[in-house]
Amino acid sequence: MNIKMIALLATILGVSYAAWILFSGPSSAEEKANLITIPAFSQIAQSGEIAYGENCAACHGINGAGTDKGPTFLHAFYKAGHHGDGSFINAAKNGVRAHHWRFGDMPPVEGVTDAEIRWITKYVRELQAANGF
Ligand code: HEC
Repeated sequence: MNIKMIALLATILGVSYAAWILFSGPSSAEEKANLITIPAFSQIAQSGEIAYGENCAACHGINGAGTDKGPTFLHAFYKAGHHGDGSFINAAKNGVRAHHWRFGDMPPVEGVTDAEIRWITKYVRELQAANGF
C-alpha cells in the first residue's frame, strides 16, 4: 500500500467518523423520549398513559421511546395496519416470542386488565399518530 492509499483511507475514515457523530442522533433512551411529540391525549389515552407507565414503560420506555429491554412503539412495525389492536391484548396476556428484535422474549404482563390494555393501545395509537406512524 503506498502513501496515497493510506492518506485516502485516513480521509475516508475521518469523514465517516465525523458523519457518524453528526447523524447518529440521540443515544440515550431519555434523549430519544424527549424528542417525541406529545399530543393532547384523549381521556381514554390519559388513562392508558397511567396504565402504560405501570405495566409497559419499564421495557417500552417513557413516551414509547423504547429501552434496552424492549422496542419503541414509534416504529413502522407497530403501525395499526401491521400490529392491530388485538396484538396488544395478545402480547400482554401471552407474552411475545422475540421475532423482530434482539431484546429477548416479552413475558406475559401480570395483573393488567383487558380494559387497561385497550386504554394503553389508545395511548400508543395517539402517540404514533402524533409522530407520523
Ligand atoms: C419485560 C419487558 C417488557 C414489558 C414489561 C412489556 N413488553 Fe412488550 N415487548 C417486549 C419485547 C422485548 C418485545 C419485542 C419482541 C420481538 O418482536 O422481538 C415486545 C413486543 C410487544 C408488542 C409487539 C407484539 C408483536 O406481535 O410483535 C406489543 C404489542 C407489546 N410488546 C405490548 C406491550 C404492552 C401493552 C405492555 C404493557 C402492558 C408490554 N408490552 C410490556 C418487552 C416487554
